[in-house]
Amino acid sequence: MASSSKRSILITGCSPGGVGHALALEFASHGMRVFATARSTSSLSRLSEKGIEICELDVTNAESITALRDEISKRTGGKLDMLFNNAGSMYEAPAIEADPARIRAVFDTNVFGLFNMVSAFTPLLFASSTQSDMMPVIINTSSVLARLPFAFSAAYNASKAAVASYSDTLRIELDPLGIKVVTLFMGEVSTNLMSPDNICFDPEGIYTVALEGTRERSQNHAKKSMKPELFAKQVVQAILAKHSEYGKGEFLWKGTNAWAIWFLNLVGWRYMLDNVVKKMVGLEKKKSESPFAKKQQFCGQRKMCREANS
Ligand SMILES: NC(=O)c1ccc[n+]([C@@H]2O[C@H](COP(=O)([O-])OP(=O)(O)OC[C@H]3O[C@@H](n4cnc5c(N)ncnc54)[C@H](OP(=O)(O)O)[C@@H]3O)[C@@H](O)[C@H]2O)c1
Repeated sequence: MASSSKRSILITGCSPGGVGHALALEFASHGMRVFATARSTSSLSRLSEKGIEICELDVTNAESITALRDEISKRTGGKLDMLFNNAGSMYEAPAIEADPARIRAVFDTNVFGLFNMVSAFTPLLFASSTQSDMMPVIINTSSVLARLPFAFSAAYNASKAAVASYSDTLRIELDPLGIKVVTLFMGEVSTNLMSPDNICFDPEGIYTVALEGTRERSQNHAKKSMKPELFAKQVVQAILAKHSEYGKGEFLWKGTNAWAIWFLNLVGWRYMLDNVVKKMVGLEKKKSESPFAKKQQFCGQRKMCREANS
């Protein structure tokens, strides 16, 4: 496809039902040239019907990133105006029982994949900064969970805290190159991210009594949070309204409950939501009454018996 005069944006993780899909449609409705990516493009036919250009991308695969960079470069004449790092995955398990391979997979997608996308596409954004008086923009998707100790998703929370910290440092480093960096602290949005399929507790572990509460939390998340279309409208509006000015809109807090968490962080009230977070999954009881204490004792005794018998 020939290069066009429209401003261009590349969005990662655009499968149907998710935020990336809604963002692609919303940016396109504002007259932007949108490159929507997913691990499998077969799910993106609705986007291509709307004139959105679709490409394959697995952010954990270096060859896939390079191939996409070359393809976008060919289509746009070597430049890109915006990069929206949206792809992400979640895994819910007790911190001390989590599977190390799944933790690494979360970090590969949410953290290292995002770092690699930034490194690969910054030259295209830089080329855009020299040809236009509007600042090119990188938007990195973090989460309110970077600031909230949401139980049983410690690895995911840590990955999003890493994104927030990286993105803020990148903001400083890319400013002299004329590239703006926005960190999106995303609140709850009704997508497939928090699916019961991503919850994995050791069936013989300490926390099995909290499994039902964690599943319920996951189901409530989809029912009670903002729809992706509304979220996309708010985010796109904020980015397009403020994208050309440095020092405005670099930190976006959008999605259900994002504002409340922003405020509690601002006033430094870190413990305020501890009980809410515990209650969601049934962790709120005092130590002496807690079913976890009994379960821990039981697991400890069973382990000692096993060791004695071996
Ligand atoms: N929903 C929320 O409440 C919430 C809150 C805070 C932050 N976030 C963040 O928002 C972003 C979008 O998530 P969502 O809520 O829209 O969830 P989603 O519906 O599960 O979408 C996640 C997207 O990321 C893609 N993805 C996963 N691994 C990938 C990989 N290795 N390479 C390329 N793409 C990959 C998925 O593609 P496949 O279909 O191929 O898996 C999917 O398109 C994520 O970064 C998430 O962490 C979401």
